[in-house]
Amino acid sequence: MSRSRFVQQAMGLGPQWQAREGWFDQHPAELEKQALLQTAQVQQAEMAATISSLEPEQPSTPMPAVELPRSANLPPVAVNVTTAPVSAPEAANPAILISPAVEVAIPSWDQLEQNVANCQRCQLCNTRSQTVFGRGNPQARWMLIGEAPGEHEDRQGEPFVGKAGQLLDNMLAAAGLDRDRDVYIANVLKCRPPGNRNPAPEEILACQDYLQQQIRHVQPTLILALGRFAVQTLLQTEQTIGRLRGQLHQYQGIPLIATYHPAYLLRNLPDKAKAWQDMVLAKQQFARLSQSV
Ligand code: URA
Repeated sequence: MSRSRFVQQAMGLGPQWQAREGWFDQHPAELEKQALLQTAQVQQAEMAATISSLEPEQPSTPMPAVELPRSANLPPVAVNVTTAPVSAPEAANPAILISPAVEVAIPSWDQLEQNVANCQRCQLCNTRSQTVFGRGNPQARWMLIGEAPGEHEDRQGEPFVGKAGQLLDNMLAAAGLDRDRDVYIANVLKCRPPGNRNPAPEEILACQDYLQQQIRHVQPTLILALGRFAVQTLLQTEQTIGRLRGQLHQYQGIPLIATYHPAYLLRNLPDKAKAWQDMVLAKQQFARLSQSV
């Protein structure tokens, strides 16, 4: 007997009304509560299924071991760390962008590539031969970001295959990095601006979430931003490379080093030494970051 019933009996208040067995389960309020609970469970299951169908397909070939930079051979470089404005927080799951209020799903890698191939967001779709998505190992720890496809890239559908690409390959090789194994290379724009003119602000804007989604998938340890357009787009600044190089920046929590564009270096040979210093700094930072994980 419950305590309250005992007290009531002791006070002479007599037998009280008692619910029939199952009465509470059949009460309209209880039925409504159960129905709401069931709906919530179905919605939760549907959401889980949608999210798992958006998981990126991981490339099937495992990445060969990347040789860590031989930092002992590298000359010391002074480093300042700056932090760029963060427009979206880091994602733990590469398929999900987490913002304080909402979770935004991003397409799988294959779907993203397809979206880029079909893109008609700006006028460049009328003049391109094809889109240039990127190249390299999508699981690489280094991500290199250039400006836009040129004539050769537009024809071949791959970034950095012209003269600037050859210089970039040489720089990577000198730094002990294999272009197909150790890095993933993408551009700010996925289509060639006619006559290799500079990217227009509206073209950068139209294309920027493709690059953001690529970075989310690759989740590199370090980004090497090549040239003004890549650096200024990622860091949301108008400062020059000359001012931004030589420091460690952050793009949405990912360490970023700014350096000159290889095409610029082809025209400005004296700055090649500075670009090499930037590469040395990048390798030092990569080694440091790799040790801290
Ligand atoms: N310049 C770039 O920035 N990207 C390319 O893919 C080729 C040249």
